[in-house]
Amino acid sequence: MPLPEAFKEELKARVSIEDVVSPYVTLKRRGRTLVGLCPFHNEKTPSFTVYPEDNSFYCFGCGAGGDVISFVERMENLDYMEAVRLLAQRAGLAVPEEEADRGLSRLRARIYEANRAAARFYHKCLFSEEGKAALTYLTGRGLTKKTIVHFGLGYAPGRGALTRFLREQGFSPKELTLANLAMEGRGGVRDRFYERVMYPILDLRGNVLAFGGRLLGKGEPKYLNTSDTPVFSKGSQLFALNFAKNAHAENLILCEGYMDVIALHQAGFENAVAGLGTALTPEQARLLSRYTKEVVASYDADAAGQKAAARSIPLLRAAGLVVKVLVVPDGKDPDEFLRAHGKDAHAQFQSLLDHCGNDVAYQLGRLKAQQNVQTPEGKVAYLNAAAGVLAGLDNELEREVYAGRLADECGVQRAAVLAQVESVRKSRRRTQDRRAFRTFQQKTAGLRDGVNPDKHQNFRAARAEEDLLGAMLVYPESAGYVLARQAPEKWITAFNRRVYSLIAGKMKDGGEVRLADLGEDLTREEMDTVAGYCARRRGLAPGEKELDDCMRTIDEENEKRRAHEGGSDADIQRYMDALRAQKKK
Ligand code: UTP
Ligand code: MN
Repeated sequence: MPLPEAFKEELKARVSIEDVVSPYVTLKRRGRTLVGLCPFHNEKTPSFTVYPEDNSFYCFGCGAGGDVISFVERMENLDYMEAVRLLAQRAGLAVPEEEADRGLSRLRARIYEANRAAARFYHKCLFSEEGKAALTYLTGRGLTKKTIVHFGLGYAPGRGALTRFLREQGFSPKELTLANLAMEGRGGVRDRFYERVMYPILDLRGNVLAFGGRLLGKGEPKYLNTSDTPVFSKGSQLFALNFAKNAHAENLILCEGYMDVIALHQAGFENAVAGLGTALTPEQARLLSRYTKEVVASYDADAAGQKAAARSIPLLRAAGLVVKVLVVPDGKDPDEFLRAHGKDAHAQFQSLLDHCGNDVAYQLGRLKAQQNVQTPEGKVAYLNAAAGVLAGLDNELEREVYAGRLADECGVQRAAVLAQVESVRKSRRRTQDRRAFRTFQQKTAGLRDGVNPDKHQNFRAARAEEDLLGAMLVYPESAGYVLARQAPEKWITAFNRRVYSLIAGKMKDGGEVRLADLGEDLTREEMDTVAGYCARRRGLAPGEKELDDCMRTIDEENEKRRAHEGGSDADIQRYMDALRAQKKK
């Protein structure tokens, strides 16, 4: 059952798109619209546009679009009802009850409950008889009781214990497997985690999303993590961000491991976070950029760690972050470093922080170490590789400065270095342009259109339909005009026909229909598509003639199809003649 109209009206009246977007995007006014850098893809010139006039947004770069609700859905990775609930909460409105309990939202709520109960259970076990060895293990690694409680660490005892406990609490086997706390096996469900130290992973609202579980001794895998579930996707979360965001530090420290983060927090660096056992993703980089301007990458000193650091740098930069790289001395990870310095740990790590270089210096240093720069060949190889790094810098001053340094270092002309950098940039740009153009072409040609697959076969009709839909939603006064003149059956492409019928149905209930009124009935991708129709229409109030033209195009395409279906050459001939005659008029 859909949400009551009155509630939706009230919600929309109370939350403005500008207020919802501005915590995430710095918006600048441009005429009647606001623009900023799109939070859904990486860009350097703003193509993300907000339309206060009808509470909607559209990105001309990536095609994301919709209303306040779809914005929150994407931004916070929620489903429709969860986004409604979040906005309603902010606006001080109560969501009509029965709705709050449906489908995926309900399932997610159950998974959160199961995870929370599991975290409590594990935590209790850690301080019980069976958890003794685990507790000794953690304190042996230097963690205080306070830290253990703060992070809610726990112990998963022998296999079966958690499942038994949660089944008694009323969780179904299905719910436990969906939460990835248990797995299907012979004779019922079995615990996923057993005989491991447990690290709960929380989101920013304090929900328990997932767990990492570490073996007490040696063995494989050392860490076992929750697989992706309806509430968790490891590539889009960061461990301890819930604490780090409240540290209000000048930067965030990005490490590799759970233990690094925990040890850093204990030593007073509460701005440390970690990925969740995967290489850094662009999504995680963007997440970081929402909470800070500067990231200190503090990866393990081993080869794997340094490779991971090198791979993360461009992602962090692309998210607009200033990047520094901290290399822990003596091949240690941050946790081992802190432990080695005992009482002096804070001061020692602070000094590493104070002296760490930025990402460019770090990358150049790494490249240099790979070559013997005493030989001419080595020097050339180093300069070429270095030009590749400098070419990635979008700030011209930055390129100049580093080119100067490189030139001095290698005893060559700065102009020569800069020329090499420019040539790399040019060739990269060409590749990029070509790639962008191809995607654009395919999209506009209707190939690869998952939302409206019919478009490919009926391009002309689809464009006319899109024009009409955009006009109807942006200029509602034109909607009545079109609806009075064209039946939905005439519409050719299935998706556009569906949207048209939706608008028709909603107008029958009275009043104007805007993009925001379709959110409940369309998926995210569908909303993007329709937001695109609207974006192309804005500022172009359609006259009746233009609407008539669009409708005529649809009629003509129907004729053509009928002719094709009829199939006889005579039919087609007649049709072509008629068309020619019309054109001459
Ligand atoms: P590390 O092997 O560096 O672990 O893996 P660590 O954090 O130093 O752990 P300790 O000090 O030995 O306890 C770094 C991160 O990679 C993920 C975990 O998130 C870990 O914190 N990882 C590692 C896994 O997911 N699975 C593994 O088997 C190993
Ligand atoms: Mn470690």
